Amino acid sequence: MTDPIMSARGSIRTSVAEKAMFLRSWLRDPRLVGAVAPSGRSLAALITSDIQSADDPIIELGPGTGVFTEALLARGVPRKRLVLVEADRAFAYSLGRRFPGVRVLHMDAAHLGQTGVFFGGERASAVVSGIPLLAMPVEKALAILRGAFLRHLRADGALYQFTYLPRCPVPHALLERAGLHAVRIGVAVANLPPAFVYRFQRM
Ligand SMILES: C[S@@+](CC[C@H](N)C(=O)[O-])C[C@H]1O[C@@H](n2cnc3c(N)ncnc32)[C@H](O)[C@@H]1O
Repeated sequence: MTDPIMSARGSIRTSVAEKAMFLRSWLRDPRLVGAVAPSGRSLAALITSDIQSADDPIIELGPGTGVFTEALLARGVPRKRLVLVEADRAFAYSLGRRFPGVRVLHMDAAHLGQTGVFFGGERASAVVSGIPLLAMPVEKALAILRGAFLRHLRADGALYQFTYLPRCPVPHALLERAGLHAVRIGVAVANLPPAFVYRFQRM
Protein backbone atom coordinates (compact mmCIF):
# COMPACT_ATOMS: atom_id res chain seq x y z
CA MET A 1 0.00 0.00 0.00
CA THR A 2 1.22 3.53 -0.73
CA ASP A 3 2.31 5.44 2.38
CA PRO A 4 0.28 8.73 2.22
CA ILE A 5 3.00 10.74 4.02
CA MET A 6 5.76 9.49 1.68
CA SER A 7 3.51 10.09 -1.31
CA ALA A 8 2.73 13.68 -0.15
CA ARG A 9 6.47 14.29 0.38
CA GLY A 10 7.15 12.92 -3.10
CA SER A 11 4.65 15.26 -4.75
CA ILE A 12 5.94 18.30 -2.79
CA ARG A 13 9.48 17.43 -3.97
CA THR A 14 8.19 17.12 -7.57
CA SER A 15 6.41 20.44 -7.37
CA VAL A 16 9.50 22.22 -5.96
CA ALA A 17 11.67 20.62 -8.67
CA GLU A 18 9.18 21.72 -11.37
CA LYS A 19 9.15 25.30 -10.07
CA ALA A 20 12.96 25.38 -9.98
CA MET A 21 13.16 24.05 -13.55
CA PHE A 22 10.61 26.63 -14.66
CA LEU A 23 12.57 29.46 -13.08
CA ARG A 24 15.82 28.22 -14.69
CA SER A 25 14.15 28.14 -18.13
CA TRP A 26 12.70 31.61 -17.56
CA LEU A 27 16.13 32.97 -16.58
CA ARG A 28 17.61 31.47 -19.76
CA ASP A 29 14.92 32.93 -22.05
CA PRO A 30 12.21 35.09 -20.38
CA ARG A 31 10.44 35.90 -23.66
CA LEU A 32 10.14 32.24 -24.66
CA VAL A 33 8.85 31.05 -21.29
CA GLY A 34 6.70 34.10 -20.54
CA ALA A 35 5.96 33.27 -16.86
CA VAL A 36 8.12 32.65 -13.80
CA ALA A 37 6.11 29.70 -12.49
CA PRO A 38 3.93 26.91 -13.89
CA SER A 39 0.16 27.44 -14.08
CA GLY A 40 -2.01 26.25 -11.22
CA ARG A 41 -4.56 23.44 -11.22
CA SER A 42 -7.59 25.76 -11.53
CA LEU A 43 -6.27 27.12 -14.83
CA ALA A 44 -5.41 23.59 -16.00
CA ALA A 45 -9.00 22.52 -15.20
CA LEU A 46 -10.50 25.51 -17.04
CA ILE A 47 -8.37 25.31 -20.19
CA THR A 48 -9.13 21.58 -20.58
CA SER A 49 -12.81 21.83 -19.56
CA ASP A 50 -14.18 21.56 -23.12
CA ILE A 51 -12.29 18.33 -23.85
CA GLN A 52 -15.13 15.82 -23.79
CA SER A 53 -14.32 12.82 -25.93
CA ALA A 54 -11.54 10.78 -24.40
CA ASP A 55 -10.50 9.34 -27.75
CA ASP A 56 -10.03 12.56 -29.76
CA PRO A 57 -6.47 13.41 -30.82
CA ILE A 58 -5.19 16.47 -28.93
CA ILE A 59 -2.14 18.71 -29.42
CA GLU A 60 -0.63 20.76 -26.63
CA LEU A 61 1.61 23.75 -27.40
CA GLY A 62 4.10 25.04 -24.84
CA PRO A 63 3.47 22.41 -22.15
CA GLY A 64 6.38 23.58 -19.94
CA THR A 65 6.52 21.22 -16.97
CA GLY A 66 3.24 19.52 -17.98
CA VAL A 67 0.50 21.01 -15.76
CA PHE A 68 -2.03 20.97 -18.64
CA THR A 69 -0.69 17.61 -19.88
CA GLU A 70 -1.53 16.10 -16.52
CA ALA A 71 -5.06 17.56 -16.68
CA LEU A 72 -5.56 16.20 -20.23
CA LEU A 73 -4.46 12.71 -19.17
CA ALA A 74 -6.71 12.93 -16.09
CA ARG A 75 -9.62 13.68 -18.48
CA GLY A 76 -8.92 10.35 -20.13
CA VAL A 77 -7.02 11.45 -23.24
CA PRO A 78 -4.98 8.33 -24.16
CA ARG A 79 -1.21 8.93 -24.20
CA LYS A 80 -0.91 7.88 -27.83
CA ARG A 81 -3.56 10.46 -28.80
CA LEU A 82 -1.59 13.37 -27.32
CA VAL A 83 1.27 15.30 -28.96
CA LEU A 84 3.29 17.90 -27.04
CA VAL A 85 5.09 20.69 -28.92
CA GLU A 86 7.72 22.41 -26.79
CA ALA A 87 10.51 24.79 -27.89
CA ASP A 88 12.58 24.67 -24.69
CA ARG A 89 15.04 21.77 -24.71
CA ALA A 90 15.05 21.20 -20.93
CA PHE A 91 11.24 21.12 -20.77
CA ALA A 92 11.02 18.80 -23.80
CA TYR A 93 13.52 16.35 -22.28
CA SER A 94 11.79 16.37 -18.91
CA LEU A 95 8.31 15.90 -20.47
CA GLY A 96 9.57 12.84 -22.35
CA ARG A 97 10.72 11.29 -19.08
CA ARG A 98 7.65 12.31 -17.10
CA PHE A 99 5.02 11.16 -19.63
CA PRO A 100 6.22 7.95 -21.29
CA GLY A 101 4.04 7.03 -24.29
CA VAL A 102 3.20 10.67 -25.06
CA ARG A 103 4.91 12.05 -28.21
CA VAL A 104 7.03 15.09 -27.39
CA LEU A 105 8.26 17.26 -30.26
CA HIS A 106 11.10 19.63 -29.45
CA MET A 107 10.29 22.35 -31.96
CA ASP A 108 9.04 25.90 -32.47
CA ALA A 109 5.25 25.88 -32.86
CA ALA A 110 5.65 28.51 -35.58
CA HIS A 111 6.66 25.58 -37.84
CA LEU A 112 3.42 23.67 -37.30
CA GLY A 113 2.39 24.46 -40.86
CA GLN A 114 5.41 22.55 -42.26
CA THR A 115 5.28 19.35 -40.21
CA GLY A 116 3.91 15.99 -41.23
CA VAL A 117 0.49 15.03 -39.87
CA PHE A 118 0.55 13.83 -36.26
CA PHE A 119 -2.29 11.28 -36.18
CA GLY A 120 -2.25 9.56 -39.57
CA GLY A 121 -5.36 10.48 -41.54
CA GLU A 122 -7.06 12.05 -38.54
CA ARG A 123 -6.92 15.68 -37.45
CA ALA A 124 -6.87 16.93 -33.86
CA SER A 125 -10.12 18.04 -32.24
CA ALA A 126 -8.36 20.52 -29.97
CA VAL A 127 -5.12 22.39 -29.44
CA VAL A 128 -4.39 23.50 -25.87
CA SER A 129 -1.85 26.30 -25.78
CA GLY A 130 0.31 27.76 -23.04
CA ILE A 131 2.44 29.68 -25.52
CA PRO A 132 2.87 33.39 -24.67
CA LEU A 133 1.24 34.60 -27.91
CA LEU A 134 1.08 38.22 -26.71
CA ALA A 135 4.84 38.41 -26.11
CA MET A 136 5.80 37.33 -29.62
CA PRO A 137 5.94 39.19 -32.94
CA VAL A 138 2.54 39.31 -34.64
CA GLU A 139 3.74 37.35 -37.70
CA LYS A 140 4.96 34.52 -35.49
CA ALA A 141 1.65 34.36 -33.59
CA LEU A 142 -0.14 34.27 -36.94
CA ALA A 143 2.11 31.43 -38.19
CA ILE A 144 1.26 29.39 -35.08
CA LEU A 145 -2.49 29.93 -35.50
CA ARG A 146 -2.39 29.21 -39.23
CA GLY A 147 -0.27 26.09 -38.78
CA ALA A 148 -2.59 24.78 -36.06
CA PHE A 149 -5.82 25.45 -37.97
CA LEU A 150 -4.79 24.77 -41.57
CA ARG A 151 -2.62 21.71 -41.00
CA HIS A 152 -3.63 20.04 -37.76
CA LEU A 153 -7.15 20.86 -36.57
CA ARG A 154 -10.32 19.39 -38.01
CA ALA A 155 -13.00 21.78 -39.38
CA ASP A 156 -14.88 22.11 -36.07
CA GLY A 157 -11.69 21.98 -33.97
CA ALA A 158 -10.78 24.62 -31.41
CA LEU A 159 -7.63 26.14 -29.96
CA TYR A 160 -7.62 27.07 -26.27
CA GLN A 161 -5.28 29.83 -25.14
CA PHE A 162 -4.77 31.47 -21.77
CA THR A 163 -3.66 35.02 -21.09
CA TYR A 164 -3.08 37.17 -18.00
CA LEU A 165 -4.70 40.26 -19.51
CA PRO A 166 -8.50 40.66 -19.57
CA ARG A 167 -8.62 40.91 -23.34
CA CYS A 168 -8.19 38.56 -26.25
CA PRO A 169 -4.47 37.71 -26.65
CA VAL A 170 -4.76 38.04 -30.45
CA PRO A 171 -5.79 41.40 -31.94
CA HIS A 172 -9.10 41.41 -33.81
CA ALA A 173 -7.47 42.32 -37.15
CA LEU A 174 -5.11 39.37 -36.86
CA LEU A 175 -7.96 37.01 -36.07
CA GLU A 176 -9.77 38.21 -39.18
CA ARG A 177 -6.65 37.64 -41.29
CA ALA A 178 -6.56 34.07 -40.00
CA GLY A 179 -10.32 33.58 -40.55
CA LEU A 180 -10.94 32.94 -36.84
CA HIS A 181 -13.13 34.20 -34.05
CA ALA A 182 -12.50 34.07 -30.31
CA VAL A 183 -14.72 33.66 -27.25
CA ARG A 184 -13.65 33.99 -23.62
CA ILE A 185 -14.71 30.79 -21.85
CA GLY A 186 -13.78 31.76 -18.28
CA VAL A 187 -11.34 33.11 -15.77
CA ALA A 188 -9.24 31.12 -13.30
CA VAL A 189 -9.27 33.55 -10.37
CA ALA A 190 -7.33 31.19 -8.11
CA ASN A 191 -4.40 31.09 -10.54
CA LEU A 192 -1.39 33.27 -9.72
CA PRO A 193 -1.80 35.61 -11.48
CA PRO A 194 -5.50 35.16 -12.43
CA ALA A 195 -5.78 34.03 -16.04
CA PHE A 196 -8.40 34.23 -18.78
CA VAL A 197 -9.05 31.41 -21.24
CA TYR A 198 -10.12 31.98 -24.85
CA ARG A 199 -11.45 29.51 -27.39
CA PHE A 200 -10.53 30.16 -31.03
CA GLN A 201 -12.49 28.58 -33.87
CA ARG A 202 -12.90 29.02 -37.60
CA MET A 203 -15.45 31.68 -38.63
C1 LIG B 1 3.90 30.49 -19.91
S1 LIG B 1 4.79 28.97 -20.19
C2 LIG B 1 3.40 27.84 -19.96
C3 LIG B 1 3.83 26.45 -19.56
C4 LIG B 1 2.67 25.53 -19.13
N1 LIG B 1 1.72 25.34 -20.20
C5 LIG B 1 1.98 26.11 -17.92
O1 LIG B 1 0.89 26.69 -18.12
O2 LIG B 1 2.52 25.99 -16.82
C6 LIG B 1 5.05 29.00 -21.95
C7 LIG B 1 5.58 27.70 -22.54
O3 LIG B 1 5.55 27.82 -23.98
C8 LIG B 1 6.80 27.40 -24.51
N2 LIG B 1 6.96 28.10 -25.79
C9 LIG B 1 7.08 29.45 -25.99
N3 LIG B 1 7.15 29.74 -27.30
C10 LIG B 1 7.05 28.56 -27.96
C11 LIG B 1 7.04 28.19 -29.33
N4 LIG B 1 7.16 29.11 -30.30
N5 LIG B 1 6.91 26.88 -29.67
C12 LIG B 1 6.77 25.93 -28.69
N6 LIG B 1 6.80 26.21 -27.37
C13 LIG B 1 6.92 27.51 -27.01
C14 LIG B 1 7.80 27.79 -23.42
O4 LIG B 1 9.03 27.10 -23.54
C15 LIG B 1 7.02 27.40 -22.18
O5 LIG B 1 7.11 26.02 -21.93
